[in-house]
Order: sequence, then structure tokens, then C-alpha cells
Amino acid sequence: MGTGLDLPLDTVLVGDCIEMLRRLPPASVHAVFADPPYNLQLKGALRRPDDSLVDAVDDEWDRFADFATYDAFTREWLTECRRVLRKDGTIWVIGAYHNVFRLGTVLQDLGFWILNDVIWRKANPMPNFRGRRFTNAHETLIWASRGQESKYRFNYAAMKALNDDTQMRSDWFIPLCTGGERLRDAAGNKVHPTQKPEALLHRVIMSCTQPGDVVLDPFLGSGTTAAVAKRLNRRFIGIEREPTYAEAALGRLAAVEPVTESAAMTLPSKREQPRIPFGTLVERGLVPPGSRLVDRQRRWTAEVGADGTIRCGRAAGSIHQVGAAVQEAPSCNGWTFWHLERRDGSLRLLDELRMELVGTT
Ligand SMILES: C[S@@+](CC[C@H](N)C(=O)[O-])C[C@H]1O[C@@H](n2cnc3c(N)ncnc32)[C@H](O)[C@@H]1O
Repeated sequence: MGTGLDLPLDTVLVGDCIEMLRRLPPASVHAVFADPPYNLQLKGALRRPDDSLVDAVDDEWDRFADFATYDAFTREWLTECRRVLRKDGTIWVIGAYHNVFRLGTVLQDLGFWILNDVIWRKANPMPNFRGRRFTNAHETLIWASRGQESKYRFNYAAMKALNDDTQMRSDWFIPLCTGGERLRDAAGNKVHPTQKPEALLHRVIMSCTQPGDVVLDPFLGSGTTAAVAKRLNRRFIGIEREPTYAEAALGRLAAVEPVTESAAMTLPSKREQPRIPFGTLVERGLVPPGSRLVDRQRRWTAEVGADGTIRCGRAAGSIHQVGAAVQEAPSCNGWTFWHLERRDGSLRLLDELRMELVGTT
């Protein structure tokens, strides 16, 4: 990358994130995921009886002289992230009790608008060795839009679907990154001390982006964000200061096969669904008058009228009214209940036919 304003898509930039972020064009990325240094070296960090750090982060990248130095650093990189974020983009920042409150303050001071704080509850947390505090079993993710007025993306329906048709809550129960997913060197040692689980990034990316969107991670580490973004058919930009981590991330990325765009799509939520009356499908000949509609199990058959109503036995009315009447249900979404039965006997969901009209009406 030069010093200009190109967007280096699907790249791992090796260097200091503040410097690298300054080279990126403004308003160019849809989402940021940032897992910054925890600042564990400060007084109060969790230590084992032998004084080694519990979280095993004893690296140069996690050393800051004091809170003021850490805060100044945080302000700088968050200012740059806000500049490169699109007007309606969102940022995720993850931290533990050592740093997350400081991150939250700076986010608010800079004008980000906090949408949620999500608790990542660890299924298999590290035990507390000294027994002088509670076992530290979670980390906090702050999700914020660029500003209060942002029309940010939240894939509500996709999150609900991912959670067995129940609204996704703000407490996520996900194991630490272990087993085959954990990157190890030839000697079997962990490549990175704080490699995040891919399941966490899967949920983050699916919640606020769509295929083709650009996801930026200024503290890429072992490359988790980039690997999941690539798999989910999103574009990524990663920044990592340590060449060995950047190299590990590149090796990991080379093995990732993106899923197809249709597999990576998110279910549109109600607000995003096109306002197309069923009658428009009839007028346009996609569902001609006289055609047969059936439910998936072919328990009921309805005939389509030229006025956009349907009839099934004694029930007549809209696709929703008749769907509800035949099932003796209080309501029914006719778009996802009825299928057009084609001449060859195959079925086509009305909702899919409606989608074909999007952009043409
Ligand atoms: C908490 S780790 C991120 C781990 C990552 N989420 C993963 O799953 O592997 C923070 C990373 O930020 C890097 N780092 C620290 N300061 C940096 C800076 N100023 N610019 C770029 N990277 C930095 C560290 O080398 C470290 O790999």
C-alpha cells in the first residue's frame, strides 16, 4: 500500500495501527472489530501465586506506563477508527475489567453511540488461582454506532434465526478458543496468547454486516476477524504490529474457503422487506389468476383470483387471512406460508417470488 487513500482490501497491514489507519480513506469501512491490548501490566492484573500473569499476556505489546498513556493511545486509535468508519457503520470493542471501562469512556467522549454491551460468558474460564477474587469468567464487548444519528445495520431476523427463533440476548455463552482452532507452532506452543474464538466473530459479523461489506480489525493478532470475515464472504482489512502474528494470520487466511454469497446472506428483517402487495405478483404474471397455492405439506390448496385474493374452501381473502383461517390460527404470514405450485409440480415460496420483484417496482 502507498501512502495514498486506496482501500487495501483483503490485506494484512504490518505496522502500528494508528499510523496505518491514517493512510486509509475516510468513511470507507462498514464495521470495525477491535481487540486492543488489555493493559494487564498495571497494578490489579490477575496474577498466579508465582506472580506470572493469569491471562498469559506478558508481552511487549501489552505494556503501558500508566492509565494516562493507555488512555491517550486509546483516544488516538479510536479517533482514526471513527474517521474510517462509514456514517452508518458500527464498531465492536472487546475488553476485560482492566480496560473496558476506559474504552467505553473514550468511545462516548469521541461521539460514538453505544448500542449494547454484550457479555461474552466463557464456557470454560481460567480458574482463579489465589482464591481471593471471583473467577473472571467473561469479557465485555461494546457495540456502538458512529454517532447517535447513524442508521446502523442490525440483522435482527438473522440473529433470531441463529438463536432458534428466539430474540438474541446480550449475554453470549461461547467457549474459549481451544482444540484444533487454536493456532500452535511446531513445538506445540500457542501462537498467540489471546486468540479469540471464531464463534464469537461469527456472531459479531453476522449481526451487523452483509456479504461484500468491509470489516476492519486494527489489532488483528492471529487473524480471527479476517478469517471469519473471509469465510462469511465479507471483505477484510487487518492491521497487526508484530510480524510473527501477521505471518500466522496470513497462513491461517490462506486455508479459508469463503462460503457462497447466498449462504452468507442474512435474513432480511421486517423493516427491510419490500412493501409489495400480493396483487402486484398477480398483475405482473408471476402468479397468474387461476394458479394454485399450497402450503409446504400440501395440506391446503387455494386458488388465486384476478383481484389478488385467494380462495380455499369457504375461506376467501388475502393470502394472510386465508392462511390464518385454514390453520385456525390468529394470524399468518402468507408470504412464508403459501407456495406457488408450478405445472411440473414443483413449489416456489411466495416470498421468493416477491424478492424477484425487488428493485423492479
Ligand atoms: C488482544 S490481541 C488481539 C487478538 C486477536 N483478536 C486474535 O483473535 O488473535 C492484540 C493484538 O494487537 C497487537 N498490537 C498491539 N499494539 C498495536 C498497535 N499499536 N498497532 C497494531 N497492532 C498492535 C498485538 O501485537 C496483539 O497481537
